[in-house]
Amino acid sequence: MRSMKAISHATFVILLLSLSARCYAQEDQLDIAPMEQAERKALYLTIQGFVGDSWNGSDLYPDPCGWTPIQGVSCDLFNGFWYVTVLNIGPIHDNSLSCAQNVELRPQLFELRHLKSLSFFNCFQSQDRFPATIPTGNWEKLAGSLESLEFRSNPGLIGNIPSSVGVLKNLQSLVLLENGVTGEIPPDIGNLTKLKKLVLSGNYFIGRIPDVFGGMNELLIFDLSRNSLSGKLPLSLGSLTSALKLDVSHNHLDGNLPNEFANLKNLTLMDLRNNRFSGGLTLSFQEMNSLEEMVLSNNPLGGDIRILKWENLKNLTILELSNMGLAGEIPESISELKRLRFLGLSDNNLTGNLPSKLETLPCLNALYLSGNNLTGELKFSEGFLGKMGRRFGAWNNPNLCYQVGVMMSTNHVPYGVKPCHKEVNLLASNSKTELLNQDMNETSYFIASMGFSSSATNAFWWTFVEEILMMGLFLILI
Ligand SMILES: *[C@@H]1O[C@H](CO)[C@@H](O)[C@H](O)[C@H]1NC(C)=O
Ligand SMILES: *[C@@H]1O[C@H](CO)[C@@H](O)[C@H](O)[C@H]1NC(C)=O
Ligand SMILES: *[C@@H]1O[C@H](CO)[C@@H](O)[C@H](O)[C@H]1NC(C)=O
Ligand SMILES: *[C@@H]1O[C@H](CO)[C@@H](O)[C@H](O)[C@H]1NC(C)=O
Ligand SMILES: *[C@@H]1O[C@H](CO)[C@@H](O)[C@H](O)[C@H]1NC(C)=O
Ligand SMILES: *[C@@H]1O[C@H](CO)[C@@H](O)[C@H](O)[C@H]1NC(C)=O
Ligand SMILES: *[C@@H]1O[C@H](CO)[C@@H](O)[C@H](O)[C@H]1NC(C)=O
Repeated sequence: MRSMKAISHATFVILLLSLSARCYAQEDQLDIAPMEQAERKALYLTIQGFVGDSWNGSDLYPDPCGWTPIQGVSCDLFNGFWYVTVLNIGPIHDNSLSCAQNVELRPQLFELRHLKSLSFFNCFQSQDRFPATIPTGNWEKLAGSLESLEFRSNPGLIGNIPSSVGVLKNLQSLVLLENGVTGEIPPDIGNLTKLKKLVLSGNYFIGRIPDVFGGMNELLIFDLSRNSLSGKLPLSLGSLTSALKLDVSHNHLDGNLPNEFANLKNLTLMDLRNNRFSGGLTLSFQEMNSLEEMVLSNNPLGGDIRILKWENLKNLTILELSNMGLAGEIPESISELKRLRFLGLSDNNLTGNLPSKLETLPCLNALYLSGNNLTGELKFSEGFLGKMGRRFGAWNNPNLCYQVGVMMSTNHVPYGVKPCHKEVNLLASNSKTELLNQDMNETSYFIASMGFSSSATNAFWWTFVEEILMMGLFLILI
């Protein structure tokens, strides 16, 4: 049986081989797609620079725009000849060209005069042994054609962005994502007025963001996040009237938030978190009524949360305002943002009562209020707190309490919020036994109510129960 199987398998393989041989024989007779010798040679030498000298293009891919296509290379016909239009280097697919250790951007790259799209992914790897930089010269040769220039995940790519990339006047996408690029952002990028996407995220850029965006009214994505940029936001950001996404998070930016934000009427995502912005919320925010995600957390912004007409921002789904030094009461108008899914207000100086109307928000599934000075009774229903589970946080509000009668009968007591009915002060109390009894009563209550069941998965709960048990033990020991 086994040998029969092996034989049939072998036959099958031979059949396959003969089929593919026939196939090759046929292909050989086809004409090679017409391509200028110079173009073909420039392509081979360019790729050789990336993948190493042992790669023999003319041998492996005699017809790179025809029947021996190279993964990552695309061509187009111009006046009856094939030219390279796309060059993607890096391990995107199994059979992609992968980069040599010592990657070299050869001058022949700039002879590919119909090149529209050039991208490097995971290619320049070694910052110490083989650092590479973006070439300064020759970009003008690609000025008429290049529409997309992207470097992603290349830790070995260091040095500055040369100002000469400013000549690439047809560029629609400039992406330098997670490389080792340093220095200041050259003001010449303001010449790239056809840009739709400017992503310089995750590098080591320093200095100010140049104030050069006045002509970029086609830009959709502006992302300078995760660098070391400092200074104020340039006012010309207000010219990015088509922008959908603006992200400058995780930098050292400071100063006031500009009023010009009011012009960004199409913006859906604004992420300014982890900077040093100050001067309070700007009224212009309430004009940005297409916003869906507003993330401003971790800025010493200060001011009162109530100055904005929050009800204008009807499309908000994520509102993250944690750790911003905001004062005032939580405005009830937030409960008109019916699409809100995430509301983060932790670690501010918010005071007053919590508007119980927040629980009418139909999509809300995370609400963080911890670390404020909210007072009075937490009036959320048991059903709401049950739905939120651990995605509700209100601890570290020393003057907030929950109503015992309502919630003691369930597992939905908000973590870290004390019950309203009693003022337990462990240190001031004289009667240890009374306390012990009380605690033991609570403990046995909790244990009974949870029944030690395996369905009790809430870690907060266990910590709580453990704490009470430990406290009981401690009191017994003394
Ligand atoms: C590549 O291969 C061709 C044909 O096999 C050979 O003539 C040529 O010398 C080789 N080139 C290099 C750079 O090895
Ligand atoms: C960008 O435009 C400015 C002003 O027009 C010009 O001085 C500068 O040379 C341009 N930069 C490049 C790289 O073309
Ligand atoms: C904003 O978006 C709308 C709808 O997509 C579009 O028609 C309009 O042109 C955009 N505004 C700007 C200034 O780009
Ligand atoms: C809000 O979102 C809806 C649906 O996504 C959209 O049709 C509407 O134009 C948005 N409103 C604004 C002011 O952008
Ligand atoms: C919050 O208020 C207290 C008391 O008014 C003040 O000392 C503290 O600096 C404030 N915190 C922030 C982050 O503004
Ligand atoms: C919190 O608010 C109470 C009164 O509502 C006030 O007495 C107390 O000083 C506040 N605490 C802080 C840290 O601001
Ligand atoms: C403990 O609970 C029982 C009944 O559940 C109650 O009668 C008793 O007073 C409680 N003891 C304390 C100290 O709260």
